[in-house]
Amino acid sequence: MGFERRLAAPLLALFSMLACAPSDGAMAPTPSGSASESPSGGSTSGGPPSGGDIGAPGIGDPDFPTDGNGGYDVTHYDLRIGYTPSSKQLDGVATIEAKATQQLSRFNLDLAGYKVSDVVVDDEKAVFSRTGSELSVLPATPLAKDAGFTVKVSYAGIPTPVKDSSNLGTYGFIPTADGAFVACEPNGAKTWFPANDHPADKAAFDVTITVPEGVTALSNGEQVGEPATAGGKTTYHWREKHPMVTYLATATIGRFEVRKGRTSGGIASFAAVDPKFRGSLDSLYTVSGEVTDYWSKIFGPYPFSSTGGVIDDFSAGYALENQTKPLYGGFNPDESIIAHELAHQWFGDSVSIKQWRDLWLNEGFATYAEWLWAEHKGTNTADKLFETYRARAATDPIWKYPPGRAQPRDLFNESVYTRGGMTLHALRKAIGDDTFFQLIKTWTSDHKYGSVTTDEFVALAEKLSGKDLKPLFDAWLFQPVKPA
Ligand code: TRP
Ligand code: ZN
Repeated sequence: MGFERRLAAPLLALFSMLACAPSDGAMAPTPSGSASESPSGGSTSGGPPSGGDIGAPGIGDPDFPTDGNGGYDVTHYDLRIGYTPSSKQLDGVATIEAKATQQLSRFNLDLAGYKVSDVVVDDEKAVFSRTGSELSVLPATPLAKDAGFTVKVSYAGIPTPVKDSSNLGTYGFIPTADGAFVACEPNGAKTWFPANDHPADKAAFDVTITVPEGVTALSNGEQVGEPATAGGKTTYHWREKHPMVTYLATATIGRFEVRKGRTSGGIASFAAVDPKFRGSLDSLYTVSGEVTDYWSKIFGPYPFSSTGGVIDDFSAGYALENQTKPLYGGFNPDESIIAHELAHQWFGDSVSIKQWRDLWLNEGFATYAEWLWAEHKGTNTADKLFETYRARAATDPIWKYPPGRAQPRDLFNESVYTRGGMTLHALRKAIGDDTFFQLIKTWTSDHKYGSVTTDEFVALAEKLSGKDLKPLFDAWLFQPVKPA
């Protein structure tokens, strides 16, 4: 069951790389003059000082201090992207609607690479500067607390995906022979659009992609209208109206064969494969539909307006649960992986984490879903799988790594997946099947489209079972030893 390819080693190299990357020259002072260097105040690595009415350069995740930004909440991203596969040139105009959560004389967006030509806030040109992947914006008029505002960023360049030294490989906007493979967890959205790049800030998306005629562009949610072709270029407009975290947004581009329809349960479905995987299109479509319908019974109603999947010819060696359209990197996914990625639509995509350390709420649940799928198909049982992993020696690394506190340098450790899944099985045995599956459904409905923490899950489990479950969760999630 283990999908070892997705397991990663240290991500540290990546973060230092992002933090230290020199600006590409887009330190454009402005039309109207003095792009002030830093105002006075304490300096934070990678970003401008914060405090007073300055938005913080990070959203407040203690393990990823410069990811995301403080001082505002994004409600909508309107991304207009032009991409030419032969030159890898990306031209973007991002219009971001947000609400200030404090008074703001300046605020940051995350953007890695590109030359920024223009930033406009509420129709007035703004002063901006770049430090690493922090784009700092000084609106002409300060924003009042609770004010809605619009920031429009024009940018262009050749995308620079993140190359992680671990076996997670490369992520972000990755140019391929015929287009691009776009999988951005944990913080690669900034490689293709200016973002509040952290899962705690969810927003709706419109993604409009213009590509050479003959090339297909895929994004989340549904297509708005038919693709329009003019002057040798085709424009695709996609809309994800449900809140989405930035790392799940995609603009996957290339030659694709497509199958559309509805699942037996009536959910719209869209599958696409690179021509090299044309033999897998029907099985991807069929299994994805079957899995979506089954999870809708077990986890609660499907939270989005369509399901499906995409196989691209890029040997990422991993899959990512992109909202409505999981993306499989250069392989024909088996049922177990499809079950995993589609379980993420409930756990991770609809119910999202507030902090990366709670990642087991995504990966432990999606791993446990693989076991539930095997149980459903009669090929195995969750209990047998649980016992197999529990038989691992006390010296196995899985017992040293407490999955309830995912480590920033090793976020996707196997423990977060497997011991996270085991935690759910131990819970199921402790509270019984009825309460366990009621808990899962209550969890997905109480927090639909929201953001959660481990404490909230523990509290709900205790409430529904009437049991003190702290010792169980402590042993499985937080202790660096094999649970008794
Ligand atoms: N969340 C993915 C899964 O479990 C794995 C993953 C982690 C990933 N980091 C990634 C995929 C970065 C793509 C890019 O299926
Ligand atoms: Zn996963």
